[in-house]
Amino acid sequence: MKGIILAGGKATRLRPLTKITSKQLLPVYDKPMIFYPIETLKSMGIKEILVIIAPDYSGHYLNLLGSGIDFGVKFSYEIQDEPRGLADAFRIGENFIGNDNVTMILGDNIFDYDFSTNISEFNKGAMVFAKKVDDPFRFGVIEFDKDMKAISIEEKPEKPKSNYAVVGLYVYDNKVIELAKNLKPSLRGELEITDLNNIYLAKGELKVGIIDGVWEDAGTFDSLLRISNYMASKKMKNEK
Ligand code: G1P
Repeated sequence: MKGIILAGGKATRLRPLTKITSKQLLPVYDKPMIFYPIETLKSMGIKEILVIIAPDYSGHYLNLLGSGIDFGVKFSYEIQDEPRGLADAFRIGENFIGNDNVTMILGDNIFDYDFSTNISEFNKGAMVFAKKVDDPFRFGVIEFDKDMKAISIEEKPEKPKSNYAVVGLYVYDNKVIELAKNLKPSLRGELEITDLNNIYLAKGELKVGIIDGVWEDAGTFDSLLRISNYMASKKMKNEK
């Protein structure tokens, strides 16, 4: 299993914080944001990690992360020239992924949840994770039938069909590369991860895990503050 951290984009929602640096380098309590997704992949046993970054501030990532020796992993780097969407990561990462399966985590998604059992059960198809939230319209939203079987996924729907948001950690078999290459951009001009997940769903190859641990997409001022406070109080509890 290879790992990809997608840390592209311009993060205009976090201006002026992101006027002079990249979102995923901002502090979350006592660490740069990107350390958390690195730790999540590591805890899943993933040691080969491709970091996809925007051209701006790309040197800062090299300075901060280096080869990966300090983390006990090996980093590779690719530049995403334009924010072409999440599924673009599998086009950019084609050579890196090779013939392996791949887990992608978004560089601003912070978890306090152990994915390792779910991952050890994965062999083919795709696996996504959903969490109950109060603001599903911010995310990809999964509709379930009465037996909690997934029926559809909609990207940022105005009228969400459930409160279950798709979190930013996705596990795919090697088919994802070809599927991503054949995707067409959505109306907002992006290659949508939700379209990719719906292809797997239509083939009956999408597993959905419900998670109950802490999860935050730290892309807004409020969520960034919430997760920083959470990490601070967690550390204080551990030190007691
Ligand atoms: C992306 C995905 C969305 C997912 C979310 C998780 O949205 O498009 O389906 O629920 O990540 O953080 P974005 O954060 O790029 O708006």
